[in-house]
Amino acid sequence: MKMNTLEKLAMNNPVRLLIQRHFELPLLQKLGGRLDGMSVLEVGCGRGVGTELLFKQLGAAKVHAIDLDESMLKHARKRLAKYSPTQLKLETGDVTDIDAPNQSYDAVFNFAAIHHVPNWQAAVVEIARVLKPDGRFFFQEVTSQWIHRWPYSVLFEHPKENRFSSEEFIQEIEQQGIAVDNNWEKRGGGDFVFGVGRRNSMNSQ
Ligand SMILES: C[S@@+](CC[C@H](N)C(=O)[O-])C[C@H]1O[C@@H](n2cnc3c(N)ncnc32)[C@H](O)[C@@H]1O
Repeated sequence: MKMNTLEKLAMNNPVRLLIQRHFELPLLQKLGGRLDGMSVLEVGCGRGVGTELLFKQLGAAKVHAIDLDESMLKHARKRLAKYSPTQLKLETGDVTDIDAPNQSYDAVFNFAAIHHVPNWQAAVVEIARVLKPDGRFFFQEVTSQWIHRWPYSVLFEHPKENRFSSEEFIQEIEQQGIAVDNNWEKRGGGDFVFGVGRRNSMNSQ
């Protein structure tokens, strides 16, 4: 589900950029390490702030960034114009139907996109499918607690059914063969969950 106008205002501003750069990315890096020379998928890339951080701060060599919303990709294309087509593939795409073969990426990044997906479990299945054995899944997500909290429940548009707590999100990831163990943290009193899981090499197709 695309963001409504109010959520776009909340996401496409300098405060969000500072939070993503100085809080979210360092926390995910602490949990999962760097991506030097690696091939990375970012799902729900929005205006591309996270994509740029994957190159600049984590050392990714190649990023495939997808988003459902062409209007967000328009911003991302401007921001990321300096990256060549061999470094960056930026395109419309759905995390529940990723246009890539099995075991394509060393890492997948999700900065707060999956809570927008009605069948979020299908997104986790797809992410597990495209991760290489031992590949890492970095996630920052928004839980059911936040989605149903006033005023966000009124101002922003999210699927309201079939949402998840931090524990339910981790459990689904682990069921798909991505081991998170204790490598995750709740923030905001359980409104947000951050973590990094590693694709199980034994269960890989
Ligand atoms: C809350 S925004 C986060 C954007 C960006 N990752 C950030 O942190 O600033 C959620 C993004 O996920 C995208 N999105 C929603 N459903 C999606 C889907 N099924 N597949 C890919 N992207 C999706 C939305 O268009 C939106 O850009």
